[in-house]
Amino acid sequence: MKLIAAILFLTICIPPLGQAEDKIHLEAKTTVSGVEALSPGLRELLVEEMVALEDGMMSVIPAYASGNWSEIAEIADKMEKSYILKKNLTDEQKKELHTSLPGAFIKLDQQFHYLAGMLNHAAKSQKPELVGFYFSKLVESCVTCHADYATHKFSAFVPEKQAEGHFH
Ligand code: HEC
Repeated sequence: MKLIAAILFLTICIPPLGQAEDKIHLEAKTTVSGVEALSPGLRELLVEEMVALEDGMMSVIPAYASGNWSEIAEIADKMEKSYILKKNLTDEQKKELHTSLPGAFIKLDQQFHYLAGMLNHAAKSQKPELVGFYFSKLVESCVTCHADYATHKFSAFVPEKQAEGHFH
């Protein structure tokens, strides 16, 4: 009897908790900027750029481990110039980019390309420590931007503490 009462109690309590959680995710989503509001064409280009960046980052590792500086420089150069978002855009898409994405997003993107340029430079100078430094700065910049603008895709970056805060 006690058990049934406990189960009943739990079933009554759990749905509101679930709803509260949904609400948090919704709130997180609304702060996610205009990325989700981008037109399908632009969004496809953004995802294309991301996949290319991931490929680039992953191929830096074996090149770094074997001291293949010229290969790292080449990869970094490609990443630096990978403004796919700015390639082949119609005037309308360019306008959309600047109205949909906040200035802070564009800044993070510029910072990313700056760091890729520095990685290129470090590789050309054949400085292992600097290559490692800028590689880690680059990884950091992926995370910074995803935590701010891509939590709809990477929910692990929805801040737990902030989410808990909504309960109290
Ligand atoms: C200036 C912001 C920014 C930076 C810097 C950035 N990303 Fe992203 N990334 C995004 C956004 C926004 C999305 C979600 C795109 C969407 O939902 O359409 C995303 C999505 C992705 C995805 C998922 C693509 C898919 O298949 O949907 C991958 C993979 C990815 N990023 C890799 C990276 C890597 C690796 C780096 C660093 C080397 C990086 N990104 C740097 C903004 C950024």
